[in-house]
Amino acid sequence: FFAGMHSHMLHSAGSVNQANARILHILYGSQTGNSESLANDAAASAKSHGLQPVVKSMDEVEIEQLVKMDYLLIVTSTYGEGAMPDNAEMLWEAASSDDAPRLENLKYSILALGDTSYDLFCQAGIDWDNRLEALGAQRIFDRVDCDVDFETAAEQWISEVIPLMAEGAETVAIIDTDTHNAKSTYNRKNPFSAKLTVNRILTALDSSKETRHYEISIAGSELSYEAGDALCVIPTNCPDLVAEILKVLGCSGQEDEPVNGKLTPFSEALRTQFEIKLPSKELLEEIANRSGDQELNNLLSSGDKDKLNDYLWGRDTLDLLLQFPDVEFSAAEFLRLLKPLQHRAYSISSSGKRYPDSVHLTVASVRYDAHGRQHKGVCSTYLADLAHADTDVRIFFTPNNNFRVPSDDSLPMIMVGPGTGIAPFRAFLQEREIRNASGKNWLFFGDRNAASDFIYRDEIEAMQASGLLSRLDLAFSRDQAEKIYVQDRMLENGAELFAWLEQGGYFFVCGDAYRMAKDVDQTLHDVICIHGNKSVTEAIDYVNQLKKDKRYVRDVY
Ligand code: 2AM
Repeated sequence: FFAGMHSHMLHSAGSVNQANARILHILYGSQTGNSESLANDAAASAKSHGLQPVVKSMDEVEIEQLVKMDYLLIVTSTYGEGAMPDNAEMLWEAASSDDAPRLENLKYSILALGDTSYDLFCQAGIDWDNRLEALGAQRIFDRVDCDVDFETAAEQWISEVIPLMAEGAETVAIIDTDTHNAKSTYNRKNPFSAKLTVNRILTALDSSKETRHYEISIAGSELSYEAGDALCVIPTNCPDLVAEILKVLGCSGQEDEPVNGKLTPFSEALRTQFEIKLPSKELLEEIANRSGDQELNNLLSSGDKDKLNDYLWGRDTLDLLLQFPDVEFSAAEFLRLLKPLQHRAYSISSSGKRYPDSVHLTVASVRYDAHGRQHKGVCSTYLADLAHADTDVRIFFTPNNNFRVPSDDSLPMIMVGPGTGIAPFRAFLQEREIRNASGKNWLFFGDRNAASDFIYRDEIEAMQASGLLSRLDLAFSRDQAEKIYVQDRMLENGAELFAWLEQGGYFFVCGDAYRMAKDVDQTLHDVICIHGNKSVTEAIDYVNQLKKDKRYVRDVY
């Protein structure tokens, strides 16, 4: 299902050659790689229908090229609250501007990926659909909007849209000589069962945080990965939480319920199949309905997202059930209101070249007290609380082709990764070391307190001593009265930072999307204004060019 299976060979048959095959452009807007792998799946299907697919990331395409296209598929996810994924931003800006060209020749269809727990579900796909139509393009198959469990809907869309795209085209026999390799056979529905071999705490015991280092063995699996990729882990829910939910529902857990066409004991379904921590919108609405609670109903009908988020802050499904003891659900009713349990993706913190037989993760365990109870993050504590004596973990890989060590070993890398944002940069540095890359490396790292939160300190200091890390700037926010953040260090060292960019340097950011990455982005603009002697618009252009050249890439969440 995933990429890796697409090294097909094209053969022409008879007098019809490949040049006559209809070109189908497939563009993906991707934050995590799902859209990209679906675009590749669509391409594989297009080939088998005699089409000549051209798969591209949206940031590899200019608006002028769109004008020349006849057949187009767009696969795009939505980022955060209804925004375009990073790599789709610029094409979208051009397409949505008032002077965008007409696209009368274009026949298209869109696959939108999203998450129904967000209000603006699949908004990026919807925006593209409306905009292409407004520019005169012809939608030849209705957009399909997929929720987090996108596989079936996506396969369906591919199987219906490709024949339509091929309709009337000259057929060219294409022999697919590729056999699926091991990598392509593991996915969410068919994960690889790996062994967790190391589970070690990185932060000091008196730290306000609990960050852990994991090693998962992929020995003998034929799986491989690259620095920058993410690993998806399929967790199971905490048995104690399941037991407490069963108790408030007044269920034994033995009730047999149909789940994916199979009778499953209720407790087992809750533990392994459904999201029981984050309340679904459907559950929330049903509780509001049945309880008649004024506050909750007002919140839901007001459409005030911020207020609703405040209400839901730290409040999970069990909190809601405890809060409204008069609302009763049968096992079947309750299951209908839940969403499927999702995998969680983590940026891999090792280089596959250095550790071909294992994958390392760096994960902060989410634990907090709220509403009179202890709460635990689903996947981070699933991992944290696993004994590490060869416990089974279900995993699969998500490639992240945008987030890579530069192929030119001589170019400088600037990496901004506070907290667990350091994960991919540990991998990048290992990669550069093993490649004996000559390019300079600069790491900005930080967290709350140096004494307790300076994770991988020995490794980082060793890299500094060996010269692998040319520069290291640290920002421990709570070691002094005033807050110091990574972006403050960027600003202090702005002249040199700008010089590195001018030398062709890459600028990578990983970690918190909503505060850190936003502020770092602003500071990057400021540094370019100040040290590049540029106006605000010139700085924006400069940053846009960096993005286009894939020299400013982010892995933020
Ligand atoms: P704080 O919690 O002390 O405010 C990792 O979580 C580190 O990121 C912490 O040191 C945290 O500081 C810091 N942090 C919080 N908000 C930030 C922001 N807007 N920009 C950069 N770092 C931030």
